[in-house]
Amino acid sequence: MAPFPSHFPRSFHFIHTRTIPLRIGPHQLKNNLIVAPMAGVTDRPFRQLCKTMGAGMAVSEMVASNSLLWGSEKTKRRANHDGEVDPISVQIAGADPQMLADAARYNVDQGAQIIDINMGCPAKKICNVMAGSALLKDEPLVARILKAVVGAVEVPVTLKIRTGWDRDHRNALMVARIAESSGIQALAIHGRTRACGYSGEAEYDTIAAVKAEIRIPVIANGDITTPERVKQVLEYTKADAVMIGRAAQGRPWMFREITHYLETDRHLPPPAVGEIHRVLVAHLHDLYGFYGELTGVRVARKHISWYTKGLAGSAAFRHGMNQLQTCAEQIKAVDDYFAELSDLGERLIYVEEPGAMNKPGCIEVEEPAELAA
Ligand SMILES: Cc1cc2nc3c(=O)[nH]c(=O)nc-3n(C[C@H](O)[C@H](O)[C@H](O)COP(=O)(O)O)c2cc1C
Repeated sequence: MAPFPSHFPRSFHFIHTRTIPLRIGPHQLKNNLIVAPMAGVTDRPFRQLCKTMGAGMAVSEMVASNSLLWGSEKTKRRANHDGEVDPISVQIAGADPQMLADAARYNVDQGAQIIDINMGCPAKKICNVMAGSALLKDEPLVARILKAVVGAVEVPVTLKIRTGWDRDHRNALMVARIAESSGIQALAIHGRTRACGYSGEAEYDTIAAVKAEIRIPVIANGDITTPERVKQVLEYTKADAVMIGRAAQGRPWMFREITHYLETDRHLPPPAVGEIHRVLVAHLHDLYGFYGELTGVRVARKHISWYTKGLAGSAAFRHGMNQLQTCAEQIKAVDDYFAELSDLGERLIYVEEPGAMNKPGCIEVEEPAELAA
């Protein structure tokens, strides 16, 4: 299905999109732009950076509901919100209502101010245990999970789903009704079915249909990569907010660009090379502090790769980056590369397609071994 029907206008330059900042329970966000949960990406340093560069909220990587894992380094790190800007939204994943309720309580004790339930991730290791988007197949179980989690915590509970199990079973509307009657306070919908994985284009008709039916806030997600697309999706679906995943990788400043565009119908100029150099170096130091040198250097590689993708000379730079093993070497290489870039011009210039996204997504993303523990 095409994302928009053919009669749908592609350009909204003449329409001012008046967006109302999203409210989730007691939490008034500064706008309606949300960073999507991405395992291996939306760690505390990245969430914090996106929030300071304009995102209204950023959902954490998912935390397993299995309490046996709560003592692991990975889960402890995922539950660490020290210094994070409010509201702190933590995603939990699992299939057992009681375990999910316990996980919600545990994360609230660790500082979560919003609990998000993952029924959107198609990852095999999640779906094989009937969690993530596999849950959409079993509506009575969805109802039991939502009731258990909402009843377990005082904070608002939100839900993230896909449009259905497969193209013949698009049951987002049914699940949305269950969510609303269970006390869920916002619903994010990725405009693909579980079976679609990340193939094809996201469609927004199902999101529009859900928004027309239910009263809780609806958050549109899937293939939203530019300010224009944000505007189109908000206008078309009437959704209360948009959620952005892959397009924000290596571009945390895109949230201020979107805000500017929605307010003025004009684009900000590309960011200055010097500013993005400073942002990246600060991000790297935050990663090294959060993960330690060994893991920090490995996690940093993919962020450096995303920041520089499409910039002049970046392919050779990225290749060299993978050989470097220490924080000091990485920082020096980044400094040298940005010094070369600044010789080419004051502002970032993309010589390749800038919106190129990380296609593998949630299905094939491999985390460094240290993170998988
Ligand atoms: C690397 C990666 C990890 C993801 N991890 C999660 C996750 O933990 N929980 C979840 O609900 N969705 C996860 N997703 C799905 C995203 O939240 C989002 O729904 C999807 O990428 C579509 O949005 P986009 O087109 O803006 O990227 C992940 C996606 C990617 C690319």
